[in-house]
Amino acid sequence: MTRILLFTGKGGVGKTTAAAATAVRAARSGLKTLVVSTDTAHSLADALGVTAAAEPAEVEPCLYLHQVDAQRSLERQWGELRDYARGVFAELGLDEVTAEEITVLPGAEEVIALLELREQAGTGSWDVIVVDCAPTAETLRLLALPEALDWHVNRLLPVGRRLLRTLSPLVRRVAMVSVPDDRVVGAGERLHRALMEVRALLTGPDASVRLVLTPEAVVLAEARRTLTSLSLYGYRVDAAVANRVFPSEGADPWRERWVAAQSRHLAEVAESFAPLPVHTVPYLEAEPVGPDALARVAEAMYGGADPFAPPAGEPPLRITADGELVLALPLADKGAVDLARKGDELIVTVGPYRRVLALPAALARRSVRDAALSDGRLRVRFQSGGPDD
Ligand SMILES: Nc1ncnc2c1ncn2[C@@H]1O[C@H](COP(=O)(O)OP(=O)(O)OP(=O)(O)O)[C@@H](O)[C@H]1O
Ligand SMILES: [Mg+2]
Repeated sequence: MTRILLFTGKGGVGKTTAAAATAVRAARSGLKTLVVSTDTAHSLADALGVTAAAEPAEVEPCLYLHQVDAQRSLERQWGELRDYARGVFAELGLDEVTAEEITVLPGAEEVIALLELREQAGTGSWDVIVVDCAPTAETLRLLALPEALDWHVNRLLPVGRRLLRTLSPLVRRVAMVSVPDDRVVGAGERLHRALMEVRALLTGPDASVRLVLTPEAVVLAEARRTLTSLSLYGYRVDAAVANRVFPSEGADPWRERWVAAQSRHLAEVAESFAPLPVHTVPYLEAEPVGPDALARVAEAMYGGADPFAPPAGEPPLRITADGELVLALPLADKGAVDLARKGDELIVTVGPYRRVLALPAALARRSVRDAALSDGRLRVRFQSGGPDD
């Protein structure tokens, strides 16, 4: 079993620091640890105070750093898709797309990093994998991607296959847009399967997300929305990390004001995230760079708690014994939640976020009786018979 810990939060709040500190703590407690970065800025290597060469690179005993080289990974694994995209672009009269350009597509690098994460998890050689994720919004879109893709791919791929079968090579040659050949459809399916596996991994019982924030009104507002939407998409959030908390001892009047404001926000953080723990990290005198400084951050952050215990509590989505679908939507506003049924799918919308939930067979044929939002949970009840009775 590999424990997977994802760190996300608003830009600049300390995600990389919290992720690196957690990884150092894991390694120093004897767990074989991989820390993965999805950004190209190499800030994880900077935080750890190393220059990563080989991948994964050993930072210290039990601690390995993997900075995904999106370009190389794309070349290595998804060449067929790239060739197809290239062909389509050329047909549309656009210049040839190169691998470099594909990796510039928004979110592509993170997607590729997550694909590598799946490979690493698949080796079974890691006790802990820590992921330093992109800032909130991107990560969310990215994490929702496989499922959204599932929806499209399930509709598009069979069509692609049908076209392949019915169109003769001659017709294909004169057709307006090229039909992906079997090789490409194969790569598409493979990519899609890989993404679904990543999703299963990241929403599985051994994975959880830690939300990093600073005790400031704007940051907290965003963290609250992130908590709701992560849960909507099926990810477990198991803790918040409140970073850059001003120490109160010996404060001058300027710092006293900050201490007072922060403690108000910290009370709100505790209330918002309850019953989840909120780990606090003080505002340090200097940037915590290097494993030793990061180990001290981890000590402040976790104290005596075991940060690698399997996530406790119920999963975000479950179906009760009497056929009720329960989806955790902590902090969701009643007015922002909307529910629609489309075939055997349930479409849940919370503000700007939407999840298309494929209903399990047992519920797929039954129509929705009613739904209610209370205690941060959306409960959907179904008719006992089929949709037509
Ligand atoms: N508790 C702290 N005390 C002092 N400095 C800190 C603390 N936490 C983080 N820093 C410093 O703040 C800067 C930003 O932190 P970090 O890179 O971890 O944020 P991030 O959320 O990963 O940013 P980005 O969104 O750009 O990836 C770094 O220079 C880091 O060393
Ligand atoms: Mg960072």
